[in-house]
Amino acid sequence: MIQEKTCDILIFGGHGDLALRKLLPALYHLCHDGYISKQSRIIAVSRDTCTQEENIKLIEEKLKLHLNNSCYDPEFFESFKEHLYYVKADLFDVSTYTDLSELLGSEPQRERINYLSTSPTLFGPICKSLHEHNLITEYSRVVLEKPIGRDLASSRVINEEVANYFEESAIFRIDHYLGKDTVQNILALRFSNMLFAPLWNAQYIDHIQITVAESVGLEGRWDYYNEFGAMRDMMQNHLMQLLCLVTMEPPCSLDGNSVRDEKLKVIRSLRFIEGDDLNAKTVRGQYSSGAIGKEAVPGFFEEEGGSPKSDTETFVAIRADIDNWRWNNVPIYMRTGKRMSKRYSEIVVDFKEIPHSIFPNKGACIDSNKLVIRLQPDESISMFIMNKVPGLTDGMRLQKVELDLNVSENAPRVPDAYEHLLLDVIRDNPTLFMRRDEVEAAWVWADKILEGWSEKNVKPKSYQAGTNGPSAAIAMIEKDGRSWYGE
Ligand code: BG6
Repeated sequence: MIQEKTCDILIFGGHGDLALRKLLPALYHLCHDGYISKQSRIIAVSRDTCTQEENIKLIEEKLKLHLNNSCYDPEFFESFKEHLYYVKADLFDVSTYTDLSELLGSEPQRERINYLSTSPTLFGPICKSLHEHNLITEYSRVVLEKPIGRDLASSRVINEEVANYFEESAIFRIDHYLGKDTVQNILALRFSNMLFAPLWNAQYIDHIQITVAESVGLEGRWDYYNEFGAMRDMMQNHLMQLLCLVTMEPPCSLDGNSVRDEKLKVIRSLRFIEGDDLNAKTVRGQYSSGAIGKEAVPGFFEEEGGSPKSDTETFVAIRADIDNWRWNNVPIYMRTGKRMSKRYSEIVVDFKEIPHSIFPNKGACIDSNKLVIRLQPDESISMFIMNKVPGLTDGMRLQKVELDLNVSENAPRVPDAYEHLLLDVIRDNPTLFMRRDEVEAAWVWADKILEGWSEKNVKPKSYQAGTNGPSAAIAMIEKDGRSWYGE
């Protein structure tokens, strides 16, 4: 039975790309599926100057564009638009907050969600202004979009500022990878199947690979991306979270702190990469012009707004090691990049080879078992095992077969990550959000690499758009006697 919740959702940066592409479609679905009551309000707080009607019109257009065609229902939109409000924002102008205050009225018990989809430098000032205008109630929560800073020092400043006005339990730091269905399935797979539990360690697992490949370029975000790069934009957060879920110890329950305590332990066990390891265990890359499929695409600094002086990385590959009992000598190879050959994200758990083969070398060679968790574009989980070729073959012939662990095709629509996470904020469930200590520990590890690159003047290696990154990333894994899965 679905429980309807009543709340006010204020989206700061309400006409920004994230709001229009992800947050509003997610809220549309949540309203449509009955998770949010008719009395709830969705308030776009935006720098744009527009009327209430124009706000509704803009949102309608964007929903048509971003909702899967069969999901947009013009009849339902008529009732959805009743939720939509707009407040013009000059975040440093008192009138923004007076307008908000007037709109919100005095219902102190109504749940209030402040979604800050703005530059992180504004998180502190917005929270301060909300406080000064008495807009933070006992039932207020704040959602912070990543990145929380661009290193440990700046993330501390932001966290500190926000903590002046909100309790840690009311702060929801979002990493949308944790809202993806298959990512949550990692927890189900690991902790609800006895099958994997005894094998999930250094005794049986040879190594793990995590790839998040994107075929898109900068999508008009040169300034932001040039300042952050792949290490800060993806590795410190999304890939780090995936690594945590795959390698953490079983939490004692699914409650917010138990899961986050275990993730924190993993992050703190990551070996620092410094000195000679920087070259051996990390690869920075930057794309040059090339082609994705049949489409010619520009290089990084030829992108709109770009500059040839930039040495920001658009690709990073890392061999990480976790210094604890479970993962002793089990490398975790991670890579992510823009303008790679195709968009796909997957985690490969590669088991050790059998100690001795009794099979004559006919047919396929015995390959190690692999568990492949595909996050996108087509979510799937497969196990690769060796099997006998059926029939009266000459001796025992082996073949590699794929065990498909997917849910049936008739399964309900897979909700978008933001849908899941917004609902968790509405329900006040913090399990899938990052705690302050987690974010800061991730920066401690990432900063060592970033500082090392800067001290040693490690420049990104060029790779052609449409390929899988610089050849050094292949060399990095191959010198350990392994290779990237599927290549
Ligand atoms: C965002 C990054 O957090 O994640 C983007 O800022 C990236 O650069 C995006 O493109 C990838 O998300 P997804 O869900 O499309 O893999």
